[in-house]
Amino acid sequence: MRRPMVAGNWKMHGTRAGVAELLEGLRKLPRSGEVEVAVFPSSLHIGQVIDGLQGSGITVGAQNSAIQPEQGALTGEVAPSQLAELGCKLVLVGHSERRQVMGESENVLQQKFAAAQACGLKPVLCIGETLEEREAGKTLEVVERQLSSIIDTFGVAVFANAVIAYEPVWAIGTGLTASPQQAQDVHAAIRAQLAKEDAEVAARVQLLYGGSVKASNAAELFGMPDIDGGLVGGASLNADEFGAICRAAGN
Ligand code: PGA
Repeated sequence: MRRPMVAGNWKMHGTRAGVAELLEGLRKLPRSGEVEVAVFPSSLHIGQVIDGLQGSGITVGAQNSAIQPEQGALTGEVAPSQLAELGCKLVLVGHSERRQVMGESENVLQQKFAAAQACGLKPVLCIGETLEEREAGKTLEVVERQLSSIIDTFGVAVFANAVIAYEPVWAIGTGLTASPQQAQDVHAAIRAQLAKEDAEVAARVQLLYGGSVKASNAAELFGMPDIDGGLVGGASLNADEFGAICRAAGN
């Protein structure tokens, strides 16, 4: 059985005071051991969040980490070994904002994925098509290519220790959500692609949906057989809304 997971991607949001308020709200949420809950603050606030969530059962991840495992001369970057030492457990790899805005290539993402795993961080690999690609009927082709980039480089076994988030780019931060069936179709294709290589890895890996997940649509999305939870942006900045999404994943 796969454990449901809800991950909050705070993106480039937050001040010390705002984060403290959000942490207070998160600590008050009723705990359910059934759902794995994680938050991804900006690098600046990771230490504050790890300290503030001690004993809460909520895991902390980073939104980005460097292409090399160990610290060194790489201005502006944070090494996955530094994140691990601080107490981070997860790291996002390949979020569409990093692919598109920061121009991260498949080669860079491969390095980030491997460096994170080398330090004991679990990568959350984000994949998904743009609106143009969906309208051209290329959704499955794009997602398959993004996943193959990791499988062909490192082998499918790396997904025994990774999470995959399907995030259609047109649904991120737009208020447009993939319908539960649209998301399920892509999730089933992702799992089938993994299963061609290793059925057990495919059956165990958590596949999250991301793109305008809210309390009002979470239950329907998470009710689909291959959707194991969500990667939540905007709605994760409100503790009550995020808590409701976490509860939806437990039902
Ligand atoms: P959103 O972002 O929930 O605000 O659409 C999701 C994400 O980018 O991970």
